[in-house]
Amino acid sequence: MSKRNVLITTAIDYPNAKPHIGHAYEKVCADFTARWFRFLGDNVHFSTGVDEHGLKIYRVAEKNRVAPQKFVDAMSENFKNMDKVLDIKYDDFIRTSEERHKKSVLAFYKKLYEKGDIYKAKYKGLYCVGCETFYTEKDIVDGKCPIHKNPVEEVEEESYFFKMAKYQKKLVEHIKKNKDFLQPESRRKEILNRLKEPLKDLSISRTSFTWGIPIPNDKKHVMYVWTDALANYLSTIDYPKEKYKKFWPAYVHHIGKDIVWHHVVIWGSLLMSAGLKLPKHIFGHGFINVKGEKMSKTTGDIVDPVEITKQFPSDAVRYSIIRETPFGEDGNFSEENLIERWNNEVVNNYGNLFYRITSFAERNFSSSPYAVLNEKDKKVLDNAVKSVLKIEKLMSKFKLKDSVEEIMNLSAETNKYFQENEPWAKIKTNRKEAEKTIYISLNLLAVITSMLNCVIPKSCGQALDILNIKPDFKSCLKLPLIKKGHKIKKTRMLFSKIEVKESFIEKESDTVEITDFQKLKIKIATIKKAVKVEGSDKLYKLEIELDNEKRQIVAGIASHYKEDDIIGKQIAVLANLKPAKIKGVESNGMLLAAEKNGRVALLVPDKKIDNGADIH
Ligand code: MSP
Repeated sequence: MSKRNVLITTAIDYPNAKPHIGHAYEKVCADFTARWFRFLGDNVHFSTGVDEHGLKIYRVAEKNRVAPQKFVDAMSENFKNMDKVLDIKYDDFIRTSEERHKKSVLAFYKKLYEKGDIYKAKYKGLYCVGCETFYTEKDIVDGKCPIHKNPVEEVEEESYFFKMAKYQKKLVEHIKKNKDFLQPESRRKEILNRLKEPLKDLSISRTSFTWGIPIPNDKKHVMYVWTDALANYLSTIDYPKEKYKKFWPAYVHHIGKDIVWHHVVIWGSLLMSAGLKLPKHIFGHGFINVKGEKMSKTTGDIVDPVEITKQFPSDAVRYSIIRETPFGEDGNFSEENLIERWNNEVVNNYGNLFYRITSFAERNFSSSPYAVLNEKDKKVLDNAVKSVLKIEKLMSKFKLKDSVEEIMNLSAETNKYFQENEPWAKIKTNRKEAEKTIYISLNLLAVITSMLNCVIPKSCGQALDILNIKPDFKSCLKLPLIKKGHKIKKTRMLFSKIEVKESFIEKESDTVEITDFQKLKIKIATIKKAVKVEGSDKLYKLEIELDNEKRQIVAGIASHYKEDDIIGKQIAVLANLKPAKIKGVESNGMLLAAEKNGRVALLVPDKKIDNGADIH
């Protein structure tokens, strides 16, 4: 395989607030891909960054009473810091307020202009500042944006337009012909479906504010933030300078499902107009939720990746978010899963294997021993090569989770091999056999570590250093890569289990006396009415009947149950709780429900019983 030039990109984040775990997820997955291509031996340019222009940023800066440039200068540091703590090894961090980006954008715009694809007209439309996107009447739900659920704004202004409609047919043909252009398949279908409707031309300039790149020859217009932002994929490779030719077309744009349209349709048609090739792949990953819900400021469920890495090893964060969710689907982030995966998979499986093999080798041999391999031994190494090839195939299809699983399977098999061959016993009775087991085990460990390094680089970087090897795909296909006489360095335990936090286990001090329980009055009640608490997606105001008494309680189950599903249902209620106000609504008791991994179930009696019945 000759060395390829591979451009891998992430979306550039809006630095209007601090990054959350969803931003981190995309960067970690893209970093895994980039590290994998480096491991394959390719020449990788991996870029990420921040999208600093547009109305959204302008308004937040204004609210904070700082100049937009000053605001983004400070905010973009949060994103760089997120990348640092998560070992995101980018080759370029692009900021759209940089001069070099502006130059590329203007060169790109010139191409569209010269092609005759830009014209001036009046624009009237409904705009969501959250998405920085225009919507048509039919997309709007009750006057609100379908994604942010904020009221859209009616905008009427003079604007420059890009002849996007002109490229619709060519675009559809491209998506249909190149089956792996837009992935996963569900997003491909969705976009093709949406493209059955005629495309409109795209308004690509604004006059209502100045925070953006001015349009040449008409300085009262600034470029539409998406046209500006998408071109970052070219400015990172110095477009229009020669270097860009080396890396364009991009190998993959890693982006979230909410911006697939912008990348496939807007970016695709802009590139066609500029006479540039379309990226080889666009992968629209799913969303990471917390407690089964979209993260939101109102519920306070936003997970800060920087804070998380203060509590847990950054490798554990990386491992769990890649391993937890099939790439392309929505997933959930939870500390419990992170701990479980780290302790049970990384520490117990790979960590254990690493230390067992290296410490045994260190105790018994001054360097890697020589061994004559029989057919059975060769098969063990051949199987490892097969695994490497299988993983390479999975990675070429962006099956990130499955790839990690395969690496861990190879690690588990190697543990088994080591265990079954008992080198600790053989060293006393049949030294040659023990030498062979170590020789083979060291090689398997080298292969596993080289691949796992793309997922958990901090720990595996140290492991590779101890093994004294550089990760290289080709060597992993030509085993043994650790040959006779190879010296490994002094080993140490690289992994330790995360201690389960108090809240996750029942400590002895958490046990209660029966008298404690007797203080609680838990009763059966029937739900009579359920209405959503204003301004909250999660809370219901419930009217319940207890004995003959009616009560009002507030319960956080609105995202799990529809009103009709719960009205008339009998539930368990903690009835002697001090009254409290939740979101300004009085609550006289607490509904009991079970929760795990984002799923919620009400505790209900298994047959009808009078309201007010006590639970003992
Ligand atoms: N600035 C635009 C992208 C321009 S790319 C030329 C933007 N920014 S964003 O900050 O809103 O989102 C950045 C990326 O994070 C997007 O790919 C988006 O899909 C992703 N995510 C935002 N929330 C997410 C989750 N909860 N989970 C996973 N990814 C999510 O859109």
